[in-house]
Amino acid sequence: MQYIKDQDNLNEKRILLRLDLNVPLKNGEITDQTRIDKILPIIKFLVQKKSKILIISHVGRPKGKVKNELSLRPICKNLEKKIDKKIKLIEENIFNLKKEDLFKDSSDQIIFLENIRFYKEEEQNDANFSKHLAKLADIFVNDAFSCSHRAHASVSKITEFLPSYAGIQLETEVKALKKVTSEIKKPISCIIGGSKISTKIGIIRNLIPRFDNIIIVGGMANNILKYKGIPIGKSIKEDNCDTIIDDIFKTAKTHSCKIIYPEDVVVGKSLKDKAQIKELDKVLDDDYILDIGPKTIDKIKDIIEISKTVLWNGPAGYFENPSFANGSYQIAKKIDEKNKNNLIYSIAGGGDTISVLNQINAIENFNFVSTAGGAFLEYLEGKELPGIKALN
Ligand code: 3PG
Ligand code: MG
Repeated sequence: MQYIKDQDNLNEKRILLRLDLNVPLKNGEITDQTRIDKILPIIKFLVQKKSKILIISHVGRPKGKVKNELSLRPICKNLEKKIDKKIKLIEENIFNLKKEDLFKDSSDQIIFLENIRFYKEEEQNDANFSKHLAKLADIFVNDAFSCSHRAHASVSKITEFLPSYAGIQLETEVKALKKVTSEIKKPISCIIGGSKISTKIGIIRNLIPRFDNIIIVGGMANNILKYKGIPIGKSIKEDNCDTIIDDIFKTAKTHSCKIIYPEDVVVGKSLKDKAQIKELDKVLDDDYILDIGPKTIDKIKDIIEISKTVLWNGPAGYFENPSFANGSYQIAKKIDEKNKNNLIYSIAGGGDTISVLNQINAIENFNFVSTAGGAFLEYLEGKELPGIKALN
């Protein structure tokens, strides 16, 4: 892997810079800035080198369609303020863009392309699309560790058409994760939550041999409950997961890894509702499970108490509504208390998890915080991520 930091002659070079500015948005407002703050070093570095910077990012999952609410505009404006420099957002169809259309004014130094996932070719890792993107620049830099687990055109395929380098944040994250994962002390517990069930459920099975306890909360826990024959009402779930869950429990038994999942829950009739604690068998057809209940919180706290290392990705509930944030906050507070007394080695990853930690000022005492969620888990699995492999 070659690092952009070590390169000279970047003057006037056009850098196609892949970032992960997939930040949480609520009514067009950015609710957590961490991912933006983390890429300021690469922007400042390239500005100083007098490069021309063409930024690519995605936000959300528009699935190849233009969706106004997933425009990069608010993120572009936010970055503009932070670096005190004008940034142009190009909304024109990328396929109509030519190299000479960009950086026409001598004052243009940073240009944003609109959400790259507005193009279906992005997720298809399409070679023609990548070739077209490559024609707009001289060098490719991946500074998006948190989406390097995606074999997408602007992460993976693009490296076949341009000299490609690792950015500053990607380098930092990969080196730090390598270090922390080689120094892990047992017992190790992993808390996995969030709503990206399909991304994470397969990973759990592969993590089992390395962990003593795996605590499943958030959306994924619904699938476990359903598998156990417990009613989950209208809660989010993924279809066809029973075979993999079967495998998770069998593998856990072989490796003496404890799988912990909710013993009680907090429900609402909608995402905007107030919280109602329920025993598992009391969940009604029109209930949404939106957080873990008090018994489950106590159980998780006991496990954190006896752990020497804890890794956490994904909130325990729909923390965007304060009524359903308690489970995530309680987990964060318990780890924070152990952190403060140096009793645990703690690693957290993912945009939403960072957001939870920031909300209750628990981020500072973590030993390492990764901007990555899915990529962080796949890294822990020991997989070579497509975006990293492409740079090697
Ligand atoms: C993330 O938020 O984990 C990354 O931006 C990747 O997003 P994705 O899960 O939609 O691919
Ligand atoms: Mg995310």
